[in-house]
Amino acid sequence: MTSPDRIDTPLTEALGIDVPLICGAMYPCSNPELIAAVSAAGGIGIVQPISMMYVHGHDLREGLRMMKGITDKPIGFNALVEKTSKVYEDRMRKWVDIALEEGVRFFITALGNPDWVVEKVHAVGGTVFHDVTGRVHAKKAIDEGVDGLICVNSRAGGHAGEKTPVQLLDELGDLGVPLVCAGGIGGPEDFVRALDLGYAGAQLGTRFIATEECKAHDDYKRAIVEAKADDIVLTTRISGIPVAVIETEYVKKVGTETGWLMRKALQHPKTKHYARMLVQLKSVFELKRASLKGASYRDYFQAGKSVEHIDSIEPAGAIVQRFAEAARASRDIAAAE
Ligand SMILES: Cc1cc2nc3c(=O)[nH]c(=O)nc-3n(C[C@H](O)[C@H](O)[C@H](O)COP(=O)(O)O)c2cc1C
Repeated sequence: MTSPDRIDTPLTEALGIDVPLICGAMYPCSNPELIAAVSAAGGIGIVQPISMMYVHGHDLREGLRMMKGITDKPIGFNALVEKTSKVYEDRMRKWVDIALEEGVRFFITALGNPDWVVEKVHAVGGTVFHDVTGRVHAKKAIDEGVDGLICVNSRAGGHAGEKTPVQLLDELGDLGVPLVCAGGIGGPEDFVRALDLGYAGAQLGTRFIATEECKAHDDYKRAIVEAKADDIVLTTRISGIPVAVIETEYVKKVGTETGWLMRKALQHPKTKHYARMLVQLKSVFELKRASLKGASYRDYFQAGKSVEHIDSIEPAGAIVQRFAEAARASRDIAAAE
């Protein structure tokens, strides 16, 4: 039966949740307590398996069961389907199987061809959304059978897109699947605006780092609360592709570009595969340390321009409730007009 609290959108309908709000996967900031808190409050939290296991130290199945002990509401899973190595691909297949066995039915794929995830998830009646930044990959993903798209815009934390939320809606609005706005949503007014534009929901990352449940270092959370949109810069120094970070003193000092040798290695056909693997491995350790050790390490604090409207560290559930109330109030006003 549909809950009377549900904010009806194609996203809440597809996932059986009350609030069209996703706590996006975040390496290294997704810990089970945060994910479960968002789901328990009526949104949906997404597991980032590498963060869960290699940053927060949970066996994947045990972590999934721990979350089920906190809430019986749906939880999602992030499958990065990038073709890096056979070992990585085999692991990701195993992790997706474990998630399915533990009852996860919502998957967000990114960075590659989602076809095998779609096949496994649809076989048990689940739902797959794919991260996109433009039409070409969006059409491919839909051809592979995904049910919806996470539209990553230029204000997003993590690997940002290049287009504004409005441009992405214009570009993808006719594809016939629900679209979720990812990027730049820090306060309830941003959330309401995204829904009013025509998005079926929103995916937030940065907002949920500044929460009581997130295990990131307090320096990181404080940096998010203090930063403004203009403090966010893109750096290629971490992973070779642009990542949004707060421009701390450390970032100012080292700059935002990879050295020329690595740049060359990343471009050359013979070395680019290995260079990318090396750089990714390095980034996994850099980001983990920065997130857990705070400003005592190199302060690489990943965050999006949504910092503009993030003013305090709050419980994750309170954020979901505040955003939901704003969306309901806006719908009530619209209905009365
Ligand atoms: C610290 C951080 C790590 C992220 N890691 C991932 C990830 O591992 N996989 C993924 O699909 N998206 C990742 N993202 C993107 C988020 O899931 C989400 O789409 C994005 O944060 C939305 O933008 P916002 O930060 O402005 O809310 C990350 C974002 C941040 C801020």
